[in-house]
Amino acid sequence: MQRLTIKKILHKKNKKPLICLSSYSKAIAQIANKYCDIILVGDSVSMVLYGMKTTREISIETMILHAKTVKKFANRSLVVFDMPHNTYKNKFVAYKNAKRVIKTTKCDAVKLEGGEKIASTVKYLTGKGIPVMGHIGLLPQTSSNFKVKGKNPIQEKKIFNDALAISKAGSFAIVIECVIERLARYITQKIPIPTIGIGASKYCDGQILVVDDLLGLSDSPPKFVKKYSDLKKDIEKCIKNYANDVSTRRFPSIKNVYK
Ligand code: KIV
Repeated sequence: MQRLTIKKILHKKNKKPLICLSSYSKAIAQIANKYCDIILVGDSVSMVLYGMKTTREISIETMILHAKTVKKFANRSLVVFDMPHNTYKNKFVAYKNAKRVIKTTKCDAVKLEGGEKIASTVKYLTGKGIPVMGHIGLLPQTSSNFKVKGKNPIQEKKIFNDALAISKAGSFAIVIECVIERLARYITQKIPIPTIGIGASKYCDGQILVVDDLLGLSDSPPKFVKKYSDLKKDIEKCIKNYANDVSTRRFPSIKNVYK
């Protein structure tokens, strides 16, 4: 089994779309590891698994637990740790936390949300040998709204400058979230590192989604999600059948008991 490296990820730009997925658990990591170039242990775990209102509420300790599991069961994909809110307030705090994360989880890289404002932090981390994935456009940790970005010239310029700054600071890839297609395409053409789109068009170098969204486990996923299953309905059917079987004593049957 060939392990994905940052070098191999960079090499795919303009050649093959990068397949990326946010995942947090053993079973999903085992499957994603077969098909995905990058598995992101995203801070979306906060809202998806824990029902928190925002991604700001998850702690680094909880993220570390999920990341350890994912890394343990994903020996092929590149595993990226999403640094939670407030864990990279300045370059020194960022380095202390990222170093601990990489050491304890064995993840291959960290992801930080932000553009020009955090470029010096990204440069500091990459300079210290910590691979960094950027995240621009809609920034769930700090955005005041969840609207599509880049619709006016001021936003467009800012997002483009963010992309340039993060790329120049040494990151190996950038997530572009919820940005108009034309801008995502332009950024992808102009920067030397892969862009990973989420609600940012097919013109990005790769795509990422949150696994619960594509499986149909989320209540109201955004427009950019394609649902590949309706697992919530399927799970309900299973649990309903189980409840019926228990209440009518059809379960356990002869097959499920020890003689
Ligand atoms: O937390 C997450 O899962 C993410 C992706 C949606 C890019 O940041």
